[in-house]
Amino acid sequence: MAQTKPEAPVVDIHTHMYPPEYVSILSSRDTIPLVRTFPSSPDPRLILLEAELPALERALQDPSAPLPGRPLTKHFTSLPHKLAFMSHHAISISVLSLANPWLDFLSPAEAGPIASQINTSFESMCATTNTTTTTNPTQQQQPQKLFFFGTLPLTAPTPTLLSSITHLTTLPHCRGIILGTSGLGAGLDDPSLLPLFAALADANLPIFLHPHYGLPPSVFGPQSARGDYGHVLPLALGFPMETTIAVARMYLVGVFDAVPGLRLIIAHAGGTLPFLAGRIESCVVHDLKLGGGAGKERRTVWEVLREQVYLDAVVYSEVGVRAAVEAAGGADRLMFGTDHPFFPPVDGDAEGEWESVRWNVTAVEKALGKGSREAEMVLGGNAVRVLRLVEE
Ligand code: URA
Ligand code: ZN
Repeated sequence: MAQTKPEAPVVDIHTHMYPPEYVSILSSRDTIPLVRTFPSSPDPRLILLEAELPALERALQDPSAPLPGRPLTKHFTSLPHKLAFMSHHAISISVLSLANPWLDFLSPAEAGPIASQINTSFESMCATTNTTTTTNPTQQQQPQKLFFFGTLPLTAPTPTLLSSITHLTTLPHCRGIILGTSGLGAGLDDPSLLPLFAALADANLPIFLHPHYGLPPSVFGPQSARGDYGHVLPLALGFPMETTIAVARMYLVGVFDAVPGLRLIIAHAGGTLPFLAGRIESCVVHDLKLGGGAGKERRTVWEVLREQVYLDAVVYSEVGVRAAVEAAGGADRLMFGTDHPFFPPVDGDAEGEWESVRWNVTAVEKALGKGSREAEMVLGGNAVRVLRLVEE
């Protein structure tokens, strides 16, 4: 009997949620990150970033001022909305992660139990979905599957932190962890992080490195500090630069040599690393005599990128995708993502097509050839292989 080629799966590795217990925490806070309701808005507002503070202050004083932050729609919190979004965009597998700023702001005592609760909540969303969803023949070829990146209680004492990694290894749908750039509070070149990086490498849990803090608003000038340019400068430039600085610091302190089994998946196509890796490498050669771990020769920034790093393809242009493929050492090291539920449709119909998704798909297809093996790998095959996205 003739065999038809199964559709190549589309896998979204950059897709966030806030489970209800996390929203309750944000709703009880009065410093960022927080959730606040305003009489003029049907949805509560989610206020996460320092850049959103001027608008928050104005809105609290003047009910007619523009609303701060962004609407906390059902797309952030509801599993049916996530699955509908996936169906609408023919995404058959998603690797969910808690959105920023994760658990970075919790007290040491509460971080461990809350991490455990949130990771269990993600596991149960995946388990329920993977056993109950069936193929909808009108919309897609493949049944929907979910996996997730866990969240660590970074403010908790080290034993709690390490036992949270052990907990993640018992959750069948966990495929790594999402991590911001602050680490234990002193950045990712902090030597105190080495036991954590080693434990993650031993557990075969890659780090999905994601920005949150951006750059100080003053960097962008007084107009931006007043909020005049909205999210453009902090999100388009601050986020990628923050990521770039964090990875450069990890490289400079020798994390990659100290933990050769560590794997990093860097958000937003590596921030600005594909463009700046050469400059970092040149400055290292001219300025520092970096040794390699265990008496080995120093590996260049390029070698580390090609041996221990994967990049997502959330970069919205084929120019960025081409640069990311070059920097990561091939199309087998790039993985598609959407950043759902951030960047909803500009016309407001969040149940329809999200142009931000189309831009990322088109970027991959233009850079690598629509229907090409490389494009299929980036759109899904690489994630299935690297993150073992098959039920065990
Ligand atoms: N994308 C994210 O993941 N987080 C933000 O805060 C904004 C965009
Ligand atoms: Zn994101």
